[in-house]
Amino acid sequence: MDSNQQQQQPQYRCVIVCQHSSCLRNGSAEVLQAFRDYPVPNVIIEGSGCMGQCSSGPTVRVIPDEIWYCRIKPHDVSLIVKQHLIGGQPVEAKLHPRIHPRFYF
Ligand code: FES
Repeated sequence: MDSNQQQQQPQYRCVIVCQHSSCLRNGSAEVLQAFRDYPVPNVIIEGSGCMGQCSSGPTVRVIPDEIWYCRIKPHDVSLIVKQHLIGGQPVEAKLHPRIHPRFYF
């Protein structure tokens, strides 16, 4: 990462992990616990109600970046922590495709 990317890192982040019915059925309580097992300075971890992405949960949203992840499993968390929360680079393979559409030519 170069110095320009480091300057763009927000001072604080919040990781929001849906704890509503569909996401819970797909393991979001374990995902929330996995984030809590990897504490990062200046990052708050919160459970939430439904975020309207029930068919592709567990849903994880990172603010203020406004990065949305879908179908997150506990084993995905360490990469998100290292690459995104510490390194500032979202994990592209886990981005929610409806919110972060990708175009291939
Ligand atoms: S139940 Fe998690 S997004 Fe709706």
